[in-house]
Amino acid sequence: MKEVEILSVGPMYPASLEAMERDFTVHKLWQAKDRLQLLAEVGGRIRGAQSFGPYGVDAKLIEALPRLEIIANVGVGVDAIDLDAAKRRNIIVVNTPDVLNECVADLAMGLTVATLRRISLGDRFVRAGSWLKSAFPLGHKVGGRTVGILGYGRIGKAIAKRAEAFGMRIVYHGRKPQPGVAHKYYASLTEMARDCDVLMVICPGGDATRHIVNAEVMQALGPEGTLINVARGSVVDEQALVKALAEGSLGAAALDVVDSEPNVPPALLEMDEVILQPHVGSATHETRKAMGDLAVDNLRAHFSGKPVLTPVV
Ligand code: 8YV
Repeated sequence: MKEVEILSVGPMYPASLEAMERDFTVHKLWQAKDRLQLLAEVGGRIRGAQSFGPYGVDAKLIEALPRLEIIANVGVGVDAIDLDAAKRRNIIVVNTPDVLNECVADLAMGLTVATLRRISLGDRFVRAGSWLKSAFPLGHKVGGRTVGILGYGRIGKAIAKRAEAFGMRIVYHGRKPQPGVAHKYYASLTEMARDCDVLMVICPGGDATRHIVNAEVMQALGPEGTLINVARGSVVDEQALVKALAEGSLGAAALDVVDSEPNVPPALLEMDEVILQPHVGSATHETRKAMGDLAVDNLRAHFSGKPVLTPVV
């Protein structure tokens, strides 16, 4: 398959990248000094693109690749890919579902415990020498609290399993109730926020969910409430979040993602009740390798005339 030329739009786990380079001729856009020059040179020959989370494929890039047949995203969220533009050109889009469920859910649960038990703050307290002078303020018990999961998909369910093991009560909100699920469903996100202690954001990003966690939802979550976002920054109205935390109308937040990554609103950096992570839900050796390998397996399948493994529908 060496005759097939692939555009690597964003980085990928080194071993998976090597595997892709063994089978295909790969051009790395993310390493190019002059992106436009690289596209002018090879764009006409590219038949596959490999993207990675925020290193997406927009309509302009699709236009620069007239022979593009498939986009393989290393990541489950495809909000950085222009799906309409791809559809218009009959370009197949694949992602990497399932292989990252456990790791993203682990981080989500870790952030839940870290926020309620104030683990980051405790670490800073000890390092600053404050333990020598005063007692650390009490946190909150995890067991017995209610977590409201916004987006009860595959990762949402893996989070629910963990939260249950910690003795939490699970409720959820999504477009519709899911058959065979015992947890309480809320048709209204605001009502769910009112009834839960932790609001867990794990729904897809994109236009349909932009800022659905707004001032009203945060108000409903309340001064004792915690917001956790391991999905996309775009789902949360960040200005409203800063305001709610500053006023104390929302208790705490833990964010693995922000809207203009990697730029975090400066006000959040100053707040003790906020835990920040650099978008690392899937960032383990094991999972990033599984994601990279699945993307390459999809490319191999497509270019050997077989159906792709994990199409985005
Ligand atoms: C990112 C993710 O791809 O799968 C997703 O949608 O958000 C992650 O796995 C990765 O962290 C790069 O930002």
